Amino acid sequence: MFGILKKNTIKYLSKTRIPQDELILKMEELARRKNIPILNYKAAEFLEQLVLIKKPKKVLEIGTAIAYTSIRIARKLSSDDIIDTIELSKDNIKIAKNFIQESGLNNINLIEGNAFNVIPKLGHKYDIVFMDADKEDYIEQFNLSLNLLNTEGVIVIDNLLWYGFVATKKVPEMYRNSTKHVKEFNKLFLSETSLYSTILPIGDGIGLGIKK
Ligand SMILES: C[S@@+](CC[C@H](N)C(=O)[O-])C[C@H]1O[C@@H](n2cnc3c(N)ncnc32)[C@H](O)[C@@H]1O
Repeated sequence: MFGILKKNTIKYLSKTRIPQDELILKMEELARRKNIPILNYKAAEFLEQLVLIKKPKKVLEIGTAIAYTSIRIARKLSSDDIIDTIELSKDNIKIAKNFIQESGLNNINLIEGNAFNVIPKLGHKYDIVFMDADKEDYIEQFNLSLNLLNTEGVIVIDNLLWYGFVATKKVPEMYRNSTKHVKEFNKLFLSETSLYSTILPIGDGIGLGIKK
């Protein structure tokens, strides 16, 4: 969803979109039909570019959903590099496993469980961490993730503009609590002294932090 762009711009971007293969389009269609949130495709393209520039040995994703972004990232990694991805929903894990198998990739390590329990046991560091689970948990997951990031490693966080609600007083009732959490998180993220941090207006707002 593009909550922060004008309609004409959305139309233009979608018309000029790089063609995608059948698997990616199938995943996008399933996510739409089953109402499963996946990363906006522009943000996914940004992450792919970041992987190509950074050439990470190890990537961590918090919140796999149906493995849409895991697959897009894994395709851009070198053959002996790996993405660990954590998911707690049994339903999503089942779908993700099928898509990973269909992709034919063997560099995606799907870790089943709650990120709060999994992260402290991971035992290695990462060049890119992508945080994309529940917004209410961002502060705690961010603090855990910072310890896992190599120097010059990159942390990427989705939804920091939260459909534009962080920048308006007219927030619908059902988004008030989550908007409060995102705004609190943004303050903490932008003032974190161990990172060079910024929020980019891509997709639903991408936080990008580079470890000093
Ligand atoms: C926005 S979706 C992730 C989308 C995915 N990163 C993508 O781009 O395709 C968020 C996912 O995080 C999972 N999740 C939420 N809290 C979690 C937690 N504490 N540990 C692991 N997964 C969690 C949800 O079940 C959901 O599937």
